Amino acid sequence: MPIFKPLLSKYKEFLPVGKNTPLITLGEGATPLVQSLNIGPSLGCKNLYFKLEGCNPTGSFKDRGMVLAVAKALEKDKKKIVCASTGNTSASASAYGARYGLEAIIIVPSVEIALGKIVQAMAYGAKIIAIEGNFDQALSIVRSIVEKMDIELVNSINPYRIEGQKTGSFEIIDEMGNNPDILCIPVGNAGNITAYWKGFKEYYEIGKSESLPKLMGFQASGSAPIVKGTKIENPQTLATAIRIGNPASWQGALKARDESNGLIDMVTDEEIIQSYLKLTREEGIFCEPASAASLAGLIKLVNDGEDISNKSVVCVLTGNGLKDPETVQKKSETKIETIDPNVEKIFELLDD
Ligand code: F0G
Repeated sequence: MPIFKPLLSKYKEFLPVGKNTPLITLGEGATPLVQSLNIGPSLGCKNLYFKLEGCNPTGSFKDRGMVLAVAKALEKDKKKIVCASTGNTSASASAYGARYGLEAIIIVPSVEIALGKIVQAMAYGAKIIAIEGNFDQALSIVRSIVEKMDIELVNSINPYRIEGQKTGSFEIIDEMGNNPDILCIPVGNAGNITAYWKGFKEYYEIGKSESLPKLMGFQASGSAPIVKGTKIENPQTLATAIRIGNPASWQGALKARDESNGLIDMVTDEEIIQSYLKLTREEGIFCEPASAASLAGLIKLVNDGEDISNKSVVCVLTGNGLKDPETVQKKSETKIETIDPNVEKIFELLDD
């Protein structure tokens, strides 16, 4: 008896999985929901949880949606998959492609893609094309490619990606026994906030939760088209995963915000980095910078007067910190001293 129940089997009745859909898996989903020990209490909140999506097999939430998108590609007998990416989607597509014999073609920005993500795609053997441009331009190229080639698009404009990703909400409710009051989530191309909202609504409709959470989405201030209400031609942020100026699921994000009575706001790179370091130093949780936008947003809400003392709050930490080693090297205050292998000298250093 396998202990691990694959995501597609576990939530089969809620997913577009038919008798011809292969129930493939790489071990995605079932990620930890970890209670905050220090940050929650310091914000006056007893029930703050972090959903560690970096514990997925390729280190980000993308695997939840990719597993279904790839299963559907296999069902349709496709031989190739393609995506544009700021890094995580491409790592995920490359991994599932390698495992299930599909050629993965990935189009990524040539700069500002985190090292760990591009090396994943290299390791899995994807065909990598880097463009001197940003994610939005890469996505527009991918849309043109699929018009002319027999190839499955696996960005979140593929509805199966959203379907798979909504399982994040199911897991939270299954584990908490009810919905949280607030869900904080980073927003880039806006697929994930759209997916979470769909999942929460579906579970609520069948009585799995008493109510619906407020969805609080956060963009980086240099890449905040939804907050500003206009496309950004040249988006900037050190949270490169969400460096997106024209989100494909813009409307889905607005719907999630409005129907949940939530908000979409922006946080500065400095706020993102402070939260990113706080998570490592105060919780022992190492997520990537974009993921920390969820906590940065929550802290901003509290500073602006939101009372969360009697609320249950989940921050979705979308990707693993190891994806982006260069940001830690730049931003961590820890310095490494190299000395002779001499125990006396070590004692001298420890005495400081
Ligand atoms: N967090 C991480 C770590 C991401 O990689 C992304 C998106 C997001 C948050 C935002 O999610 O796009 O659904 O709003 N990464 C995409 C990629 C764009 O190509 O990997 P979203």
